[in-house]
Amino acid sequence: MRSFARTGGRLKGRWAMALAVHGHRYLVGADGDGYVDTLQPEEFSLRGLFPDVDAPLVLEVGSGGGHQAVAYAAANPGRNVLAIEVWREGLASTIWHAVEAEVTNLRIVQADAAALLGHALPDACAAEVWTFFPDPWPKLRHRKRRLVNEGFASAVARVLQSGGVWRLATDWEDYGRQMRDVVTASPDFRTDADGWSPRWEGRVLTRFEKKGTAAGRAIRDVTAYRI
Ligand SMILES: C[S@@+](CC[C@H](N)C(=O)[O-])C[C@H]1O[C@@H](n2cnc3c(N)ncnc32)[C@H](O)[C@@H]1O
Repeated sequence: MRSFARTGGRLKGRWAMALAVHGHRYLVGADGDGYVDTLQPEEFSLRGLFPDVDAPLVLEVGSGGGHQAVAYAAANPGRNVLAIEVWREGLASTIWHAVEAEVTNLRIVQADAAALLGHALPDACAAEVWTFFPDPWPKLRHRKRRLVNEGFASAVARVLQSGGVWRLATDWEDYGRQMRDVVTASPDFRTDADGWSPRWEGRVLTRFEKKGTAAGRAIRDVTAYRI
């Protein structure tokens, strides 16, 4: 069961331009026009992706418009950031912001994160994994589409180094509880006290957090440490 419904169509205007002109610098597997179909996990390799191969790797799952990934990459030039997203406009937006920020330590891959973390990325390759404001699938009949579940936690545990961090956030209370239950039940992670965490200061304010707050929903952060 996929955690996303659509990947988007052909782009126009500045998004199309960002992909066409700069796609090859940032987007994994981009062709000459900056277009790439959703990458098959077996086509993916970390080899040669970043200028500094030894820098700690941060994976952002469902990076949306790329505001978090680009801000972090710009503030942390000694780290590599791989943004994973299926939504084409989001990829183009990320490239646009990456160009503006002139970052060289960021790459974007259009792929299903569940498959990428499940088997395509090498074991223990990442220092951090982020899952911020994943699609909430609030209707009961859609809950099985939620990304954060026991299987996904195993995939995150596989790619995280020992001592690595999985940061999660949501504005949906019951999804927050689901996240907390998943990480506290996992033998691969430990959490702080009751499983909730204070807002991570490294997290930028994206429109999903703003929307949740404006609608009166509390923001829940969960931080899990790989054992
Ligand atoms: C609600 S948005 C949040 C975006 C961003 N994290 C933020 O806070 O602004 C969730 C994003 O996750 C992406 N997504 C959902 N399932 C995914 C998957 N399996 N692999 C990659 N991206 C996924 C969606 O396309 C969407 O852009």
